[in-house]
Amino acid sequence: MSTEYKIPQHVAIIMDGNGRWARRRGLPRTMGHAQGAKVVEQILEDADHMGIRYLTVYAFSTENWTRPDSEVKSLMNLLRTYMKTSLVKCAKNNVSIRVIGDRTMLDQDLQDSITHLENETRKNTGIHFQIAINYGGRDEIVRAAKKAALKAYDAAAASGESSRAHFEEVLQECMSIEGLNDQLDTAGLPDPDLLIRTCGEERISNFLLWQIAYSELYFTDAAWPDFTKEELEKAIEAYNHRDRKYGGLKKEAQ
Ligand code: IPE
Ligand code: IPE
Ligand code: MG
Repeated sequence: MSTEYKIPQHVAIIMDGNGRWARRRGLPRTMGHAQGAKVVEQILEDADHMGIRYLTVYAFSTENWTRPDSEVKSLMNLLRTYMKTSLVKCAKNNVSIRVIGDRTMLDQDLQDSITHLENETRKNTGIHFQIAINYGGRDEIVRAAKKAALKAYDAAAASGESSRAHFEEVLQECMSIEGLNDQLDTAGLPDPDLLIRTCGEERISNFLLWQIAYSELYFTDAAWPDFTKEELEKAIEAYNHRDRKYGGLKKEAQ
């Protein structure tokens, strides 16, 4: 990859195709997930070396609970193992971890390991690694809206002024784009510059609906367990040929 290329600050990945990768090899789907988990660790290291500051991966969606119990269990066990074993690596590589999604639906021991890992890595100043577990973009927005509404209620109640007009004023602040942004699981993170989806599917599947408003999208046929540093470089190369306009005009057209 050319050293001239601009490195996106935040890359998000929909890691798809573990099942198909396994099926093509005559293996159970769970082997695809296990291989996929190894690839995540490698790509995190590669992304860090390339200078990417934020990496966010989709590990388990709010819709993935509809899969057979055995597959859900094996995915949860992989996440469990990851939370327990990655502390040393995160310390060594200065990685900070944040889990996004509704974790209250997860087993208590998994919730505890997530909190522990987040707390232990919070002060690390290297790459910020977000893992989406029981994550759905719509669910995240609904949860954020509820939090913003409660914040508005508390502020209105504290002021002692109960008129509708006053509540509307308070809402204006709490329910603004910035106000909602602050209540999302991704509060404080920049929006993804580049969203990658593997294995040929060209859809969002409820990932980061709010945050990808102006992200560049990149789709590759490679299944996630086959994804490599070279694939990531190809995505960044494609990103460098995009013209991000954010609704404005190209410089030369002004
Ligand atoms: C992605 O691989 C991992 C998860 C969704 C947990 P899939 O399991 O969706 O693999 P395919 O799409 O069936 O090949
Ligand atoms: C999206 O992949 C979810 C994750 C990668 C965790 P899916 O395989 O669940 O999405 P669909 O069903 O193809 O839309
Ligand atoms: Mg899939």
